[in-house]
Amino acid sequence: MDQADGLRKFSRGVSLKTSGRPAIGTGKIRGLAVASGKGGVGKTNFVANLAYTLASAGKRVLVFDADMGLGNVHILLGLAPRFNMQHVISGEKTIEEVIIRGPGGIDVLPAGSGHRKYSELNGEEMLALKTELEALEADYDYVLFDIGAGISANVMYFCSAANEVAVITNTEPTAFADAYALMKILSRDYGQRRFRLIVNSVSGRRDGEIVHRRLEQVSDRFNLNIAIELLGSIPYDEMVVKSVREQRLFTERYPGCGAAEAVRKIARTLVDTLPAAQIGWDRMLAMRA
Ligand SMILES: Nc1ncnc2c1ncn2[C@@H]1O[C@H](COP(=O)(O)OP(=O)(O)O)[C@@H](O)[C@H]1O
Ligand SMILES: [Mg+2]
Repeated sequence: MDQADGLRKFSRGVSLKTSGRPAIGTGKIRGLAVASGKGGVGKTNFVANLAYTLASAGKRVLVFDADMGLGNVHILLGLAPRFNMQHVISGEKTIEEVIIRGPGGIDVLPAGSGHRKYSELNGEEMLALKTELEALEADYDYVLFDIGAGISANVMYFCSAANEVAVITNTEPTAFADAYALMKILSRDYGQRRFRLIVNSVSGRRDGEIVHRRLEQVSDRFNLNIAIELLGSIPYDEMVVKSVREQRLFTERYPGCGAAEAVRKIARTLVDTLPAAQIGWDRMLAMRA
């Protein structure tokens, strides 16, 4: 079977075992936070399309909209949730009542939008969330966190909870600088030593490698002492823009487009390499204290 065959099979939800290597770790859930520092670089699109791709392959996936106060995963998916995480935090709803079903059977925990009150969670609110969230772990294989822009405390907490952090940037110096700043804070203040890198909106094959090398050079020069692993790159693709306007996922609507192909490739790598571990809700709480 050639690689293209493998990808086609994967997209039909047949083949997940790419190398036969088991994922590392002993827990049963795989958490991945997708963060960028800068807004508008493609976090939400990547998370939602990755979720769809994994779900198409039979995985149970929860998309956790961690962009508290400005959540928009549901908009990208064309969903209109009645309730959101804010109702969980306030105790009005249980988490099961808030989670909604999205395309391809993905589950979505909407964040809510337009409430500054929850854009920074306090210890009590975190505890309320943690108790509800822990009950969910048995229900999913993957929890993907769509992290908000910026370098707020919420960003740091959710990145730490997820165990694994994927930083997404494009090739613009502004996005690059913010990706670096985010990794710097997460490594220096939160002990995060390992990062996956996704380079989005590339125009050529080599762009991803170039950005990766440059980030490694800068982090070496400033002694961040971190490992940055290039997870993959995603081409600039008009179908992404089109699918956003249609409030549909490009992996669903335009599965043959370059961006969809790139996301499937990244999904295969993640299936092979993402360690299973408990989501670090306790670690998140300890940081809050
Ligand atoms: N690979 C891509 N090709 C073309 N446009 C893209 C691509 N990725 C993102 N975009 C554009 O960038 C916009 C912002 O993406 P989004 O995922 O909402 O970013 P973020 O969550 O980081 O703020 C999208 O609405 C889309 O127009
Ligand atoms: Mg977003």
